[in-house]
Amino acid sequence: MAKRMISTELMDEDRRLENTLRPQMLLDYIGQAKVKENLKIYIEAAKQREEALDHVLFFGPPGLGKTTLAGIIANEMGVGIKITSGPVIEKPGEMAAILNNLQEGDVLFVDEIHRLNHQVEELLYPAMEDYAIDIVIGKGASAKSIRLDLPKFTLIGATTRAGMLTPPLRDRFGVVNRLDFYTVAELKQIILRSANVLGVEIDEEGANELARRSRGTPRLANRLLKRVRDFAQVKYDGRITKEVAGFALDLLEVDKLGLDHIDREILLTMIERFGGRPVGVDAIASTIGEDVGTIEEVYEPYLVQNGLILRTARGRVASDFAYAHMGIRKITE
Ligand code: ADE
Repeated sequence: MAKRMISTELMDEDRRLENTLRPQMLLDYIGQAKVKENLKIYIEAAKQREEALDHVLFFGPPGLGKTTLAGIIANEMGVGIKITSGPVIEKPGEMAAILNNLQEGDVLFVDEIHRLNHQVEELLYPAMEDYAIDIVIGKGASAKSIRLDLPKFTLIGATTRAGMLTPPLRDRFGVVNRLDFYTVAELKQIILRSANVLGVEIDEEGANELARRSRGTPRLANRLLKRVRDFAQVKYDGRITKEVAGFALDLLEVDKLGLDHIDREILLTMIERFGGRPVGVDAIASTIGEDVGTIEEVYEPYLVQNGLILRTARGRVASDFAYAHMGIRKITE
């Protein structure tokens, strides 16, 4: 019980931090240049026509800014935002109530939209297309369906798994954006901005070291910044330099490429347990006791993007780079 409370407190604290650091307008948003450029045009066009922005879908690994961008869109459009998530809405009636309570032009942000149940999803089709929903009133022979008009609104959906969206839902989004991992230069800028907001002293090289080891992910960069700040304060003079960042990140078991112990366990499993042969994600998951979805959505994308895992027709294999990074000699017969 006590353990559970601690972890909830930490989550709340992390979430609070994330919220204070979120940029509020497009101008302050660093990275995802293409997405930003497109959104800017769509937002301006919708504002000129005095219409609600078309429905927007964001997909990509966690922590890359899907929620942040939804908030920015609402701010730029000058409308309200209601935030919910797929698994939270259990019944069509709950979704109907949320939609009915929106104001004209508002944003409805649905995180993890691939986890909406089927009935709730079906309610969204006419809502997205015609800004209306059909509600059945009464039961049996006297049941009647009535159409309820909704305010014009913008649905912003976010998912880590675009492939799990049903085609009818996916097709109803006018704007579909994939978010990519951030470059080290972009993450460095984000870290410097966050340090400024938090009043943390950090030099260029310190920011660079943190950026290199943040897995291309702003959410992680901001979390690590906060942890490293603690080390800087207690063990050093409060200023984050390359040395301080390196020392703290080593202690946090975040390696030079930003891999954590689960990333390394995945690579070790592939190299040692499976002898470097092609292996399926299910086998990796059951060997290390992780959820298959988590490996596919959270861990694998970064490992693939950085050339540590190669996806072949016969399965995943660890690359030569992965062997070198793990300090393991590859035995070739
Ligand atoms: N904080 C988190 N993500 C950010 C981003 N993309 N730009 C600026 N600050 C951020």
